[in-house]
Amino acid sequence: MNGIAATLNLAGRTALVVGNGDDARRYAEWLDDHGAGVSLVAPAVRASLAAAAARRRWTLHTRELRDADFDGCHLAVAASDSRDFNQTVIDAADRRGVLVHALGCTEHSTVTLPLRTERVPEGLHRTVGSGRVYLVGAGPGDPGLLTLRAREVLARADAVLYDRLVAPALLEWVPPAAQRIYVGKAASRHALPQARINALLVDFARQGQRVVRLKGGDPFVFGRGGEEIDTLKAAGVAFEVVPGITAALGCSAYTGIPLTHRDYAHACTLVTGHLKDGTLDLPWDALVQPEHTVVVYMGLGGLALLCDELIARGLPASHPAAVIQRGTLDDQRVVTGALQTLPTLAEQAGVRPPTLAIIGEVVRLRERLDWFGSLAECTGETLAAV
Ligand SMILES: C[S@@+](CC[C@H](N)C(=O)[O-])C[C@H]1O[C@@H](n2cnc3c(N)ncnc32)[C@H](O)[C@@H]1O
Repeated sequence: MNGIAATLNLAGRTALVVGNGDDARRYAEWLDDHGAGVSLVAPAVRASLAAAAARRRWTLHTRELRDADFDGCHLAVAASDSRDFNQTVIDAADRRGVLVHALGCTEHSTVTLPLRTERVPEGLHRTVGSGRVYLVGAGPGDPGLLTLRAREVLARADAVLYDRLVAPALLEWVPPAAQRIYVGKAASRHALPQARINALLVDFARQGQRVVRLKGGDPFVFGRGGEEIDTLKAAGVAFEVVPGITAALGCSAYTGIPLTHRDYAHACTLVTGHLKDGTLDLPWDALVQPEHTVVVYMGLGGLALLCDELIARGLPASHPAAVIQRGTLDDQRVVTGALQTLPTLAEQAGVRPPTLAIIGEVVRLRERLDWFGSLAECTGETLAAV
């Protein structure tokens, strides 16, 4: 067959699946997982398929296929047990100019989908096929901060599932034929729910694919890497973890604010400043220790609350603090101030996520150690004036 490798973007588009059994269900689930709206047609459907259709809100037509079923569809999949019938679906799709993949008829299909349909018995716990999932840290933003191991793994990937904060340039390492799937994640607004991401990872690996789960920063620092591995382990899928430079380290280096320093801080704590029900649940006593740096991920929304609470718990209002927006990237912005002034300064500067806050005496070192920020800086206030 003479073909070209391409990537289908089905998000928000309709895919028609024709068939009544497990193959149809698996294709429908897979298309759904990739963002397509699924329309399913079969004269009679198995209970498992009907249940999946109801659960996933697919449009289900329990009747013979009609030409009009192709209207508004971008892709059709013929997944019946009959090769002859699948061929008639190809003919009908061709008449309507709709791309089609038909089981058992690859040579006449206009599209060959990578999903294979061999079944893994439910509940089987073993390492399946030669597929493997690589949980890879993409670093904080600057594409040059990717590790060599991560680059190696990306270059051999069959599929890559990537997050919102991953630098687009990193996808250039991925082979052109590999699937690239955006799985989003802006605070709690996920393009794909975590359960669906986990299911996709397992699904791809079971097809024998090398799957890269590319995550911002490091997978094990506020990255849900542990949860994803739990799912892989339970499904018997082999995996490897490739660490990445976490935002705290990237922002520290690119702002000239060391997280520890013999004269200023002997310890450092990373916390999430994500608000739960409008409050912050943090180990406050640990955070207000002397000679201690606190790094706050996801903390812009709760910054004022955080600073107020740290003052209330004993830190001086003049305690140095900084907010870094899009650290390590060319448009990195840094606002420095003190606990009392930082929330207002950040607001006045129009700071937007993703941001990291660094709180501690080490912030004073920025004036001496900065090498990057002088390119394009937004400094709210010099510490000398605090
Ligand atoms: C869900 S956490 C993921 C952290 C990631 N696993 C890591 O190790 O950096 C996302 C948060 O990381 C922080 N972050 C990630 N990249 C950043 C950057 N380039 N500049 C500032 N903060 C960043 C922000 O606080 C953002 O809300």
